[in-house]
Amino acid sequence: MTPIPDRQTMTAVQGGARVSIFLVGFMGAGKTSVGLALSRRLSWPFEDLDDRIEEHAGHSIEEIFRLLGETAFREMEHRALRDLCGELRQSARVVALGGGAFVQPRNLALIAGITTHTVFLDAPVEELLRRCQQQAKTRPLCRDAAQFRQLYEARRPGYLVSAYRIETQNKDIETVAKEVACSLGME
Ligand code: S3P
Repeated sequence: MTPIPDRQTMTAVQGGARVSIFLVGFMGAGKTSVGLALSRRLSWPFEDLDDRIEEHAGHSIEEIFRLLGETAFREMEHRALRDLCGELRQSARVVALGGGAFVQPRNLALIAGITTHTVFLDAPVEELLRRCQQQAKTRPLCRDAAQFRQLYEARRPGYLVSAYRIETQNKDIETVAKEVACSLGME
């Protein structure tokens, strides 16, 4: 007799393909931290696109921007995402995208080509700025507060294309991860 799959498996497997979860949003949204927490909750593998880029390039994101510029970084980001999307056809993962990845049209086309749940982690721009300023991580596009706010406004409509939106203000990482899992019907 074929065993009846549990709820988590039923939700993750649609039409025979496992559905990866893409966390998107601006710098400071908590994509990596929430992604790690979510992957632990679901016992799924976790993938951070920026880590993949750094490993492949042998340089940090900060060095890539400084030595090669943003255009070269976007090219690397696109190639890394293309490779990752190929792998996700075989094994679903929780994926954290860098803040600019989801708003590049050619990247959106790649993501649209695979089965995913896209989740926008949202927060007011002042909260995002505060989080980025508190973190030790060096972000090449977070050097100037006015530019940060401007970039956020320009990108926000792009993030809203996601299938799900989770408000993260005043919530801890575990709470947000739980909300993501519940929204997807996995908890
Ligand atoms: C970027 C965000 C960064 C990183 C790179 C570019 C962006 O990732 O990909 O510095 O364009 O917003 P985080 O969102 O994880 O900081």
